[in-house]
Amino acid sequence: MTSVSEASQRSGPVGVGIIGAGVISKTYIENLSSFADTTVVAIGDLFPESAKARAEEFGLPTAGDVSAVLDNPDVELVVNLTIPVAHAEVAGQAIAAGKHVWNEKPLSLDRESGRALLEAADAAGLRVGCAPDTFLGAGLQTSRRLLEAGEIGTPLTALVLMQGPGPESWHPNPAFLFQEGAGPLFDIGPYYLTALSQFFWPVRSVAAIPSKARETRTIGSGPKAGEVFDVTVPSQYAALVQYESGQSATMIYSFDSAQKRTLLEVTGTEGTMLVPDPNTFEGDVAVRRTGDDDFSVVAQTHELSSRGTGALDMARAIREGRPHRAQGALAFHVLDTMIAIAESGEQGQFVALDSTVEKPKLLPEDWDPKAATV
Ligand SMILES: NC(=O)c1ccc[n+]([C@@H]2O[C@H](COP(=O)([O-])OP(=O)(O)OC[C@H]3O[C@@H](n4cnc5c(N)ncnc54)[C@H](O)[C@@H]3O)[C@@H](O)[C@H]2O)c1
Repeated sequence: MTSVSEASQRSGPVGVGIIGAGVISKTYIENLSSFADTTVVAIGDLFPESAKARAEEFGLPTAGDVSAVLDNPDVELVVNLTIPVAHAEVAGQAIAAGKHVWNEKPLSLDRESGRALLEAADAAGLRVGCAPDTFLGAGLQTSRRLLEAGEIGTPLTALVLMQGPGPESWHPNPAFLFQEGAGPLFDIGPYYLTALSQFFWPVRSVAAIPSKARETRTIGSGPKAGEVFDVTVPSQYAALVQYESGQSATMIYSFDSAQKRTLLEVTGTEGTMLVPDPNTFEGDVAVRRTGDDDFSVVAQTHELSSRGTGALDMARAIREGRPHRAQGALAFHVLDTMIAIAESGEQGQFVALDSTVEKPKLLPEDWDPKAATV
């Protein structure tokens, strides 16, 4: 990416504009406003009144439709918190307006639009970053450090279990979470696939079996409670993932289980590691070496982080002229993996991948999200 080697001409906190004033915008605004190196200067939404309400809640200076962000000269980094079907289009508009863009996951719905977005950014000398950034949390960074130090010997396999009843009980607009671009694979898969990408790399081929428990779901909270909507994508996947580095992972992603349970476990030649839930920034890392009676919790390196860490690292990288960690190319490889899993489910055979990307560097152990560094 052209801009990666060029430090920004500006100095001081990076101006952030949010597009998409829904549920998750609250957390992003709270966190990006709490970091010294980012400042939220505008918010826009398809429904300007939603943006204005959020702006009022947090005292943001500018709010309105999408142009309130895209035409704002103080916005350097657009944080795209729209629903998945709009991710590529809104991110493309941000690049066309000369802004760097941080996308919520998934990067886009298909390989073509994902690739086109990265190419447009590259041609314009702009950056694309993408969620999830939980792999930058203390738990997953500690896990990677331990694995690379040989704590469980040579890593061999991973076990992923992400099951629960699905988000329609608590999300006020949950239909998109059961439709194209979401379902448990595209909504939650990015957390696990990105976490695993820090240990095993890159994905070479996948196989999967999809299923769906119910054709419709009912909204359980908010003003639309009781409304029924269609489930248009599989609500469970069982998948096998084979990595070029030699390891393999067995995964379940399910919105069809009454039992909520998550597991990310890596087994090596000399032990097993329990990795914290990659859909959070918290949780213990525990190791059981061959011969141990039980797992022992390991002390974590560096400060606790929170949602927005990836955008903060990107903002600092823009100022410093270095690569950011949660890169668009990483998100593209994860997207490519999820699409291959869906294709394998349809075709009943292994699907090979050819995308790849460099593993991002670990965060320094003294990384401090609150510090003023730019
Ligand atoms: N809700 C969560 O807990 C959560 C957690 C992590 C990630 N995410 C991701 O964040 C994104 C947003 O999720 P949410 O829960 O906040 O959704 P939401 O439905 O609550 O909000 C989305 C907002 O985007 C706006 N929007 C949609 N299309 C638009 C467009 N073309 N231009 C401008 N605005 C547009 C909508 O009007 C809405 O206000 C999704 O990609 C989701 O996967 C959500």
